Amino acid sequence: MGSFAGPFWARLPYTLIGTGTVEQLGEMVKHLGGNKVLVVTDPGVVQAGLLEKVKQPLEKEHIEFGVFDKCEPNCPIHVAQACAQFAKDGGYDLMVGLGGGSTLDTTKLASITATAKDVSLENIRSYVTSGPPGRGLQTILIPTTAGTGSEISPVAVLVDVDGVKKVGRHEYYLARVAIVDPLMTQYLPPAITAQTGIDALSHAFEAYLCPTPNILADTLAEMTIKLISDNLRTAYRSGAQNLEARYNMAIAATYAMSTLFISGPTPNVSLYHAMGHSLQIEAKTTHGISLYLVMPVIMEYNLLATPERFARIANLMGEKIEGLPLQEAASKSIDAVKQLAMDVDLPQRLRDIGVKKEQIPKFVEVLFSNYAARIKANPRPISREDAIKLYESAW
Ligand SMILES: [Fe+2]
Repeated sequence: MGSFAGPFWARLPYTLIGTGTVEQLGEMVKHLGGNKVLVVTDPGVVQAGLLEKVKQPLEKEHIEFGVFDKCEPNCPIHVAQACAQFAKDGGYDLMVGLGGGSTLDTTKLASITATAKDVSLENIRSYVTSGPPGRGLQTILIPTTAGTGSEISPVAVLVDVDGVKKVGRHEYYLARVAIVDPLMTQYLPPAITAQTGIDALSHAFEAYLCPTPNILADTLAEMTIKLISDNLRTAYRSGAQNLEARYNMAIAATYAMSTLFISGPTPNVSLYHAMGHSLQIEAKTTHGISLYLVMPVIMEYNLLATPERFARIANLMGEKIEGLPLQEAASKSIDAVKQLAMDVDLPQRLRDIGVKKEQIPKFVEVLFSNYAARIKANPRPISREDAIKLYESAW
């Protein structure tokens, strides 16, 4: 393993993992000195009965709390603003984020903004683009999906008024505590299980295939790739009955994200997320679907750059590679990814989700105007023409 590389950071939040760990929420709040807690969540989570699981441990410890349940997908900036204003007006001193990546990101942004003098869109935008001015309120993050890994990342993603995703990265966005409880994902619908699981796989790939690997990130990436390959199908088909698969997916998602933040000085996510985001914005699809639709073509394009690593991925995903020439073994990783996606019923091509070929130049325009650093971090140089060809192959 070519992991002998330069220095790397390995800072992660204090993380409590395991079945039933959400019951310890009240103790965690007390441990952090929280007196008045704002639970930040969304209507889907409330409807799924998960808010109750968080209320109980708070009530048990007699902790005063309120609820903001108006989070929306993709963290629109005006929702982060409304949440921050709610927290400020209510005098809350600790926030508990409960939901998928978007809700957790809303919590992070609102936790910073709630302590600002002025809860304005301009301030929130600048905290993402130029960094937060201070720590903000303490946060405890509890994911209800197994995919985004937002509970462990120092990143907050928002969608601005113009529809463009903006990504802020700063240690102040790190949760004080992450609680990863597979019971919170037990009844996650199959389609969301599949899409968020593929997001986690992409995080692991992007760390494992980055130009500056290190032994810790590699070890976690290999573990998570194998866990996802071994468990996503079961979680998709029978997640409510098979808690072990949910447990393994929860661990995989959390640590797939962690690999991105111990993977050296290069930008966290790379071309996969850059092309995926550009597609997602224009095609109005989900994060997971857009990531998968570009994944096989980017793998194919990058295969030559690090064939040993792609061959290892193939092996981790259960492909037989013994005795095969290296390139052939490497390309088996693409077969494995396609098979996994087919088994969890993800769409296979851009045209399957209604994308028109004529939209492709727009995807490339969004890609190059927003994600220059990620494009630059790709192991193989990529021009606008190359990007058009990649989207066309995915079409
Ligand atoms: Fe992602």
